[in-house]
Amino acid sequence: MITNKEKIIISLLGFLSISLILFPNLAKILTPYKLHDDNAAAALLRSTRLELERAYGAIKDLEENRLHWQQLASSSQNSGTGLPIDKDVECPAHMEPKKERSVLPSDIEIWNDRPHAPPTFEELYQQVNNVEYDPATSGIATFDNPNGKVAHMDYPHSSVWNKGDEIMEILEKALAPRKFEFIVEVGSMHGGSAIRMALELDKRGFKDVPLLCIDPWSGDLNMWLNRVVWEHLDPRGGRATTYDQFMVNVKSFIDNGMSDKHIVPFAVSSIIGARWLQATGFQPSVIYLDSAHEEDETYMELCLYWEVLPVGGILMGDDYGWAAVRHDVDRFVSDRGLTLNMFNVYYNWWIKKEKYD
Ligand SMILES: C[S@@+](CC[C@H](N)C(=O)[O-])C[C@H]1O[C@@H](n2cnc3c(N)ncnc32)[C@H](O)[C@@H]1O
Repeated sequence: MITNKEKIIISLLGFLSISLILFPNLAKILTPYKLHDDNAAAALLRSTRLELERAYGAIKDLEENRLHWQQLASSSQNSGTGLPIDKDVECPAHMEPKKERSVLPSDIEIWNDRPHAPPTFEELYQQVNNVEYDPATSGIATFDNPNGKVAHMDYPHSSVWNKGDEIMEILEKALAPRKFEFIVEVGSMHGGSAIRMALELDKRGFKDVPLLCIDPWSGDLNMWLNRVVWEHLDPRGGRATTYDQFMVNVKSFIDNGMSDKHIVPFAVSSIIGARWLQATGFQPSVIYLDSAHEEDETYMELCLYWEVLPVGGILMGDDYGWAAVRHDVDRFVSDRGLTLNMFNVYYNWWIKKEKYD
């Protein structure tokens, strides 16, 4: 059915077009600026008619669409099948991400042809930054520190910063016979856990194992709601300055001897990061999840990052003490029949991928 409003619009447009056809001089009156010749008036008439036809077509399409959905609704009410409308759409109790990423309009490169392997530091840097790595001009070396941050490791909730030696020791054993080849961290904040892992890699002789830090550096809900962790977020103009603190901290450790061939910051969300890894084929040996901690969001991250982990790799994370994290980790482990292990360091957990799903 056409609504009253649509009827009025159609009548007005119809009246205008008939007037223009019957009284071509009207076009001249209606166009007081430049169109004072007959050709221009005719062109105006033609384009007005075209616009009217288009508008009429669009209204017809709308009406057909509406009828189509109305029929679907009544058939679903009668038969109990079909698509219900005018009701809340039923969502599944929990979200499951698609295994495959969607094809993108920008998919010029044939990503599937790429080998699935850990990248070198240089390959990773080049892929993120689209330039070759040069220690003198890298993003970290040349960070201009617009908010005047001073390096510090005062963020108190970084369990890997506090106990990274114990964690890396357990990890190294759990990984065997694999070695540390490529580490992905999701949620880096001020860099505490990433820097500790980098220092521990150096200590163990892995001087150029790349460590990708995926974080939009926009904080998590807890930081924005609870003023107790406010100073760690340190927002200016509604935006966290944690990225700045991260860059300054990493630079300071590199200046003091930490290998510069580990940390590559990648300021994207966990989901983009996971899909990016899927496309590039870069295979991590270890993935450390310490990001948003919301229920279902954590589950999505677990599913997506599990996909990019090769057999023998380790998925680990922090904050199993948080109800939402525990809920999603438990659900993930039980859905897939996996074994959950604890580091016995704060609430850090790990799962080894023994076979492909
Ligand atoms: C608890 S902090 C990470 C602490 C860090 N791993 C450490 O131990 O030093 C959480 C971080 O997750 C990041 N985060 C929040 N939502 C995210 C998302 N959807 N994807 C990636 N990172 C996210 C926040 O910006 C924040 O920096």
